[in-house]
Amino acid sequence: MIEIDFVRQRFIKHFDGQTGNVYTSPGRINLIGEHTDYNGGFVFPGAVDKGVTAEMRINGTEDTVMAYAIDLKDRVDFHLDDPAGPKASWARYIYGMALEMRKLGVPVKGFNIAFAGDVPLGAGMSSSAAMESCFGCGLNDLFGENKVSQWDIVLAGQATEHNYCGVNCGIMDQFASVFGKAGCLMRLDCRSREFEYFPFKPDGYRLVLLDSVVKHQLAGSPYNDRRNSCENVVKHIQAKHPEGKFETLRDCTWEQLEEVKAEVGEEDYKRAKFVLGEKDRVLAVCDALNEGDYEKVGEMMYKTHEGLSKDYEVSCEELDFLNDIAKENGVTGSRIMGGGFGGCTINLVRNDLYKKFVEDAKQKFNAKYGHEPKVYDVVIGDGSRRLC
Ligand code: GLA
Repeated sequence: MIEIDFVRQRFIKHFDGQTGNVYTSPGRINLIGEHTDYNGGFVFPGAVDKGVTAEMRINGTEDTVMAYAIDLKDRVDFHLDDPAGPKASWARYIYGMALEMRKLGVPVKGFNIAFAGDVPLGAGMSSSAAMESCFGCGLNDLFGENKVSQWDIVLAGQATEHNYCGVNCGIMDQFASVFGKAGCLMRLDCRSREFEYFPFKPDGYRLVLLDSVVKHQLAGSPYNDRRNSCENVVKHIQAKHPEGKFETLRDCTWEQLEEVKAEVGEEDYKRAKFVLGEKDRVLAVCDALNEGDYEKVGEMMYKTHEGLSKDYEVSCEELDFLNDIAKENGVTGSRIMGGGFGGCTINLVRNDLYKKFVEDAKQKFNAKYGHEPKVYDVVIGDGSRRLC
């Protein structure tokens, strides 16, 4: 986690010498349930001990935001009332959150902000959701007397992605960042928004992320294309069954998917097939966790990887390679984590295999791609909060 003092020194230096309030929000992992959130299915994320920390202070202006991205050494000032908003992609998260919080009735005016983060960028650990929920938490506290609910902050973060950053994401990342709790994974039903905390202390196993360092970029078409495919299948099923109500793939059965196979085409069919299977796998993992059956959890993770790679087509050569190494090493479970197109694999590995697996992965990956994967041991941490 970023030290408060690290941010504070820069906040003081780059603005008027005064201090503000400090807020933090984490990135996330996801055990299973990928690309299910925008399909009304289940996800199984947890917050991590890495995140974004921001110092913020009201500056007395009507709508001027002075923002400093510490890691990039980049300063951008902009006006909230300027309909175009700032160009810098990091500043758009601040602009977007401020406008979305205004929509929720928070009278956001001008403020100063400096922030830093230690969620690896492009690793599929949701650095962007960490920013959104951190800024949302701060604006709610500074201008809104904390009247906006945690769920509304989650939705404001999602709306920021949709309206200002071009990613039609679901709610998993922002949810995990806001609601995270140390030591617990969370099973969220993305349709009803009900969720449960699952203490996660797998006896004899641990979770480790291997970062391919292939940068995943969700902005732009491939992520949104997947979502469109899913929605297209739902439309066709709805047309065949006017008596029913089909909002997302969650409402559709395997039989109904087969009925529209020919009309939707092979690609959309494969995408929907993955999503229906993934919904079942999350539920199977919950049962397995309740029974302490980690081998079953791992089996489901491998199935998810296969589906993400072959049917959903969001993997890449490097991630498939890391998955193969996990298999060769007898690792219990391994799969792509997050949106895909690069980033990390998440691995459930027995303690006694851990060292050998990580060394083997580093060595083989390096031999093939000329650099080692980065290794992050997963520590499940708390969600958004004010630090001081
Ligand atoms: C990204 C999105 C999430 C979710 C995952 C895939 O992280 O932001 O909403 O769809 O991809 O599970």
